[in-house]
Amino acid sequence: MLEQDVRTLRRAYVEARDESDPFEKFNRAQGVGAVVDPYAGLAAMRAITPVHRVELSALMGNVELPTSMLAAKELFVALTFDTVFEVLRDGARFSSKGYADSMGPVMGHTILEMDGEEHLRYRALLSRAFTKRALERWERDLVRPVIHAYVDRFAARGSADLVRELTFPFPVRVIAGMIGLPESEHARFHRLAVELISVGIDRETGMRASRELRELFAPVLAARRREPQEDLISVLAHAELEGTRLTDEEIYAFLCLLAPAGAETTYRSSSNLLVGLLTHTDQLDALRRDARLMPQTIEEGLRWECPLLNILRTATADTTLGGVAIPAGAPVSVNLGAANRDPSRWNDPERFDIFREQKPHIAFAFGPHVCLGMHLARMETRVLLETLFERLPNLRLDREAGDATISGLIFRSPRALPVRFDPATA
Ligand code: HEM
Repeated sequence: MLEQDVRTLRRAYVEARDESDPFEKFNRAQGVGAVVDPYAGLAAMRAITPVHRVELSALMGNVELPTSMLAAKELFVALTFDTVFEVLRDGARFSSKGYADSMGPVMGHTILEMDGEEHLRYRALLSRAFTKRALERWERDLVRPVIHAYVDRFAARGSADLVRELTFPFPVRVIAGMIGLPESEHARFHRLAVELISVGIDRETGMRASRELRELFAPVLAARRREPQEDLISVLAHAELEGTRLTDEEIYAFLCLLAPAGAETTYRSSSNLLVGLLTHTDQLDALRRDARLMPQTIEEGLRWECPLLNILRTATADTTLGGVAIPAGAPVSVNLGAANRDPSRWNDPERFDIFREQKPHIAFAFGPHVCLGMHLARMETRVLLETLFERLPNLRLDREAGDATISGLIFRSPRALPVRFDPATA
């Protein structure tokens, strides 16, 4: 049941505090490796009620909660597609301001925590960096070369761990390249980004990472203010909002959000899709034979195992959701994973099936805060699969070399993806 999974997560969370590797620390705090199948508990709960009410004190114990949650006695978990959709669609009734407590101290005031008019204005401005033209340029100049460079390192070997050697590092290199950071700083940027979002487990390191990231961005921003180039910092440095330019701090906040928003998610979603395909080889073969199946394959991967299971909203007034009364100020956990496996929307929802009837999923959320980078994420996943098919003939899972089980309660992904393939000859 859900409570049991949360207790397992709580243990993993406490243990994660002693972990020294920042990447492993964050993974463990998400329940990766500990909570394998939260879906059974979510399904059992969803069969009883569309919105599950949880006593916060009983559930979380000694885990540090955002201040907004400490004041609340209960947490409401939206579990069906319809209730999740209803929450996300209505930013006036369900605010995003809760992120100001959890992420604000390290990221700054980002669009993620803005509501209403303010959000609309900033979003319109930041969207200018994500044009179709920019996407085409990023595919050609950044995503494809970055993915090929990682594959070059193991293509002749005949075996690899695709998580450690490809899906984990490549999206953060893409974000760093988009931003315009020098190559020499990419590894540092990755570590700092993960330390930043681990602030809930290790506040001191999170705050230090926040300061260091600003130090990393500052010289690049100053240079681009003087002389713009074709990168995201230049677009942000010269974009105008009602006649005024974004301040340095506004730009830093957006850049701090991009790494976790864009890299953690894409790394995990592309790993999950690979698990789906490599454990369903009939579907893998069908996709290899017919590239037209690519878009529906990517969407099914996101529906079946979305990388980020929960997001958070706060009720702005007393309201009712799915027949359940929610008091003003109560936190609402929006369970994207449960919504994506709602049996009233999809037949046999636990099954990975690229041929299923196509209906929009909700892995990228919906409404005002729908993912700003979703087209980029889809493109990265497509290029990843195209490259693997082209470069690694006869790609298959190597079950003896390790476990590729997907796990986690908040972020989900496999810890490893050991594969074999026909080695490239020089
Ligand atoms: C498969 C990969 C991805 C998934 C599943 C995903 C999922 C999401 C979700 C669920 C949200 C809504 C969060 C909330 O409202 O609480 C979101 C927002 C956002 N995402 Fe993504 N994301 C992905 C990739 C990316 C990429 C590649 C970027 C950019 C480089 C990105 C940038 C953003 C930004 C800036 C927001 C905030 C939008 C706003 O508040 O208006 N995401 N994403």
